[in-house]
Amino acid sequence: MALWSGRFEGGPAAAFQRFSESLGVDLMMFEEDVAGSMAHATMLGEVGLLSETEVKTLIDGLAQVRSELREGTYTPGIELEDVHMAVESRLIDIVGPVGGKLHTARSRNDQVATDVRLWMLSNLRILDEALAGLIDALCTRIEQDGRTLIPGFTHLQRGQPIWLGHHLLAYCWMLHRDRSRVRDCMTRMDLSPLGAGAMAGTPHPIDRKRSAELMGFAGVVENAMDAVAARDHLQEAASLCAICVTHLSRMAEELVLWSTPEFKIVRMGEAYATGSSIMPQKRNPDAAELVRGKAGRVYGDLQALLTMVKGLPLAYNRDLQEDRHSLFDAMGTTIACVEMMQGMWSTLSVYTERYTEVLKGDFLLATELADYLAAKGVPFRDAHHVSGSLVKWCEDRGGNFSLLTLEVLQEHHSAFEADAFDWLELEAAVERRVSHGGTAWSEVVRQVALLRA
Ligand code: ARG
Repeated sequence: MALWSGRFEGGPAAAFQRFSESLGVDLMMFEEDVAGSMAHATMLGEVGLLSETEVKTLIDGLAQVRSELREGTYTPGIELEDVHMAVESRLIDIVGPVGGKLHTARSRNDQVATDVRLWMLSNLRILDEALAGLIDALCTRIEQDGRTLIPGFTHLQRGQPIWLGHHLLAYCWMLHRDRSRVRDCMTRMDLSPLGAGAMAGTPHPIDRKRSAELMGFAGVVENAMDAVAARDHLQEAASLCAICVTHLSRMAEELVLWSTPEFKIVRMGEAYATGSSIMPQKRNPDAAELVRGKAGRVYGDLQALLTMVKGLPLAYNRDLQEDRHSLFDAMGTTIACVEMMQGMWSTLSVYTERYTEVLKGDFLLATELADYLAAKGVPFRDAHHVSGSLVKWCEDRGGNFSLLTLEVLQEHHSAFEADAFDWLELEAAVERRVSHGGTAWSEVVRQVALLRA
């Protein structure tokens, strides 16, 4: 008999029971459900709705249910529908009718909202720490190999020479903002819905702030209807996950590209690479590909959470039970992707000399020639044009800037002097870009220090 079966004569169809249960996903938050029940019982005792002995009986009983669930000696059947009824009905089995007093001044509607918020707070904390770990691994990588010359790309065409550290820092800042989104989301997550009841509050003299405090929440949701009906805090969490995996997916794509012989910037560590069942030479970047692929799953989760709530009349509707599949998947997948990225970055190696010869005289230095002339007072637009015609001159002769002589330079513009060749030195070109946030090593070091602090 379900705990709500008073007005029913028969039971639900077996097929409907299977269709409506949420135990499978709910059991992931039994710790939170028990914690919420303990706080509720304690608060009911403090306001005089339960005697001291009743509170003790309930708390001891709940502790027993919790250890049975932890140890797997209690495996609730689907007729119990969800984690709330699984915990409560086992409690009543253990402590008898007094167990029925626990549900005074609460409803499953505020319980589920509470449990999910508690679960999310712990998992957002885990995500935040995972992100900090990844940023840390990237900073370590920058300190180790950051002064490796690579082409900076636009349109995936060589653009300007940069340090690898400059490139990796771009990701560090994206991940840093992901962390701030996580913490911002936590401030809205950190409010207790418990005591909202079904939607209208309760006639009993409860103290919602006290139960919130006992659960470790920073405050309470102000409106009982909002408390049970709102899911924007969950959509927000899924959104930040979606944004975060977008960053990871871009990075994953670069690891895939960079580990090809064509780019050859990194070599994946064995711990994060796979072989092929037919091609013996393979060392595939599957971990990176999976991160890229799983990003799509997280977008789907966000989409599901948005669509599920759209058009729902207030307050609680059973549709909302579907939220955890998407939400838990989004959180779990995002955390796993961050951890994989950290693993990959900590174990790969960098081909530090790969581009030092290859880029000598490369046209990615064309901006340097323009900047050289601009520094001599030539309007940048004209300087750009001159540099472009020097590219064409070299290209027409089947070479690159290595063909240039002072005479050729001066034929193209009288402002050129011998020091122009200094501007074509790769390392000097990178090191000249000392503007705030530029690729110069001093700027890389400055940013790493900021991130580490
Ligand atoms: N299992 C339900 C859920 O996950 C709990 C709330 C049920 N409330 C109700 N009125 N049927 O959303």
